[in-house]
Amino acid sequence: MQITVTDFYSNANVADCPKENRPEYAFIGRSNVGKSSLINMILNRRIAYTSSKPGKTTLINHILINNNWSLVDLPGYGYAKLSKLKRSEILKMTQDYFTQRGNRLASVFLLIDIRIPPQKIDLEWMEWLVQNKIYFIRVFTKSDKMKKGQIRNVIDKYDHYMKTNHWEKVPESIVTSSVKGFGKDEILNKIIKINELF
Ligand code: GTP
Ligand code: MG
Repeated sequence: MQITVTDFYSNANVADCPKENRPEYAFIGRSNVGKSSLINMILNRRIAYTSSKPGKTTLINHILINNNWSLVDLPGYGYAKLSKLKRSEILKMTQDYFTQRGNRLASVFLLIDIRIPPQKIDLEWMEWLVQNKIYFIRVFTKSDKMKKGQIRNVIDKYDHYMKTNHWEKVPESIVTSSVKGFGKDEILNKIIKINELF
């Protein structure tokens, strides 16, 4: 697919986000998990702000592609060093985003650092998405230093962990590395398929 970035919008309020009825794909996950880096890797451009320090993305960023669909870069969750007030503002902004975009929200990519064991906060977010009837796919990040067998092992363990924590059906997963460019086609193919249904 030819990918052209046709516009970029940053908003602190969901009410100000683009009103057009175009499908959008949101990237969520713990602060520093690699959301902005993954978006840049997919687009082959440094358009989303990235940083080695957590808390870089603070707004709702719509990156419009081919005048037709958007990738949405969101602030991360779980960054302990932010003030309580700032954290609750960001949480409200993100949850409002998820509940108020309606049918435009075609899918959520929930990013998980493949190098660390399952985190409670990620599971809580997955449960929240399910409760709000929002479709999501797990995207494992930072797989660059791992061998295929190791990756399989971690995902099997993660699936098992979810099954033992009341998840009857484990959500789909895609493995990525923004450093090595892994997972780009899987994510784009997913988007193309969902765009066709929109
Ligand atoms: P916030 O906006 O703060 O929520 O963070 P984010 O999830 O957007 O993370 P960001 O893309 O800014 O990346 C955070 C750090 O992880 C940066 O230092 C990146 O270089 C690093 N990083 C991102 N993706 C990868 C990856 O695939 N592999 C490795 N090894 N590092 C990565
Ligand atoms: Mg970011």
